[in-house]
Amino acid sequence: MAAGACSCLHLFKIMVALSLATIACSATLSSTFYDKVCPKALSTIKGVVEDAVNQESRMGASLLRLHFHDCFVNGCDASVLLDDSSNIDSEKNALANVNSARGFDVVDKIKSQVDKVCGGPVVSCADILAVVARDSVVALGGPTWEVQLGRRDSMTASRTAANNAIPSPLLDLSALISNFKKQGLDTKDLVALSGAHTIGFAKCSLFKNHIYNESNIDPNFARARKSTCPSSGGDNNRAPIDPTASKFDTQYFSNLLKRRGLLHSDQELYSGGSSTIVSLVKSYNSDAKTFYADFAKSIVKMGNINTLTGKKGQIRVNCRKVNS
Ligand code: HEM
Ligand SMILES: *[C@@H]1O[C@H](CO)[C@@H](O)[C@H](O)[C@H]1NC(C)=O
Repeated sequence: MAAGACSCLHLFKIMVALSLATIACSATLSSTFYDKVCPKALSTIKGVVEDAVNQESRMGASLLRLHFHDCFVNGCDASVLLDDSSNIDSEKNALANVNSARGFDVVDKIKSQVDKVCGGPVVSCADILAVVARDSVVALGGPTWEVQLGRRDSMTASRTAANNAIPSPLLDLSALISNFKKQGLDTKDLVALSGAHTIGFAKCSLFKNHIYNESNIDPNFARARKSTCPSSGGDNNRAPIDPTASKFDTQYFSNLLKRRGLLHSDQELYSGGSSTIVSLVKSYNSDAKTFYADFAKSIVKMGNINTLTGKKGQIRVNCRKVNS
């Protein structure tokens, strides 16, 4: 009987420890975080995103990518938005972002409008990026999801961390898998989130080797891409990653089946030798509902990477600068 009481107490202690651990890790994000303090925050963000995407559909792609490039570098803390300064080595100058990441003016516009309707800086820049990612996908015809909120903004940025963490388009499948694994994301997350390449554009320099030197590519597709991406020069010429670059659909996956992936890393999902991943690609190609549901699940998971909550970090007044 004494032994029974003892193990029961142990079980109780373990349960308390587990629930505390859950609270400390992630339970502080919530979809209703701004409902009381600023009920108009989310609709204000949505309005600016819709205007920006109506003006230029590619902006939806660029904004979605910012959330990814934020979360993969020391967590979703808006570090990607900090400009270069005496104590900030801006991530905007990292390899994957320089002359590539864009949409910062739209984020500034959102921040100033949101702070105005909220009567002060209550919405973090990191949360703005998470909401903007969802609103951009919706504006381009993709799925919606409930965005978890309550992230706070970093007081630091790291160009070196950005160089190390943001995956290169030259990676092979095994390197892509381990890159995502370091973020706590699995192979299903990798395939679903790569589906973001159903929208947006890429520079010639980043797919040149793939279209000129690699064999896992449809020759007609390679020829078409070469017409605007010469073997020497033209490095900044852009091509749509997917022919329907302003529609969030499943065509990205059908391209891969036809060996029409634009980036080496894209085609790796189909040609990289994993039958599990090939079957995911096939299922997303044939079933938009599954792709949409998995994309939503994975982007919420990505949005939970290393968030600053409670009293950590700060709510920036200007997304480009740490509060002084
Ligand atoms: C799996 C590893 C990934 C690699 C290697 C990769 C690489 C790239 C590259 C090289 C570009 C073109 C950049 C340029 O030409 O300047 C690009 C564009 C883009 N990426 Fe990724 N990406 C990956 C995953 C993701 C994820 C997870 C998302 C979002 C959830 C994403 C969203 C986008 C979008 C929307 C664009 C188009 C941006 C625009 O047109 O401005 N990518 N990516
Ligand atoms: C093709 O590969 C060769 C050998 O690696 C390299 O020197 C060349 O620059 C590549 N061509 C393109 C267009 O990337």
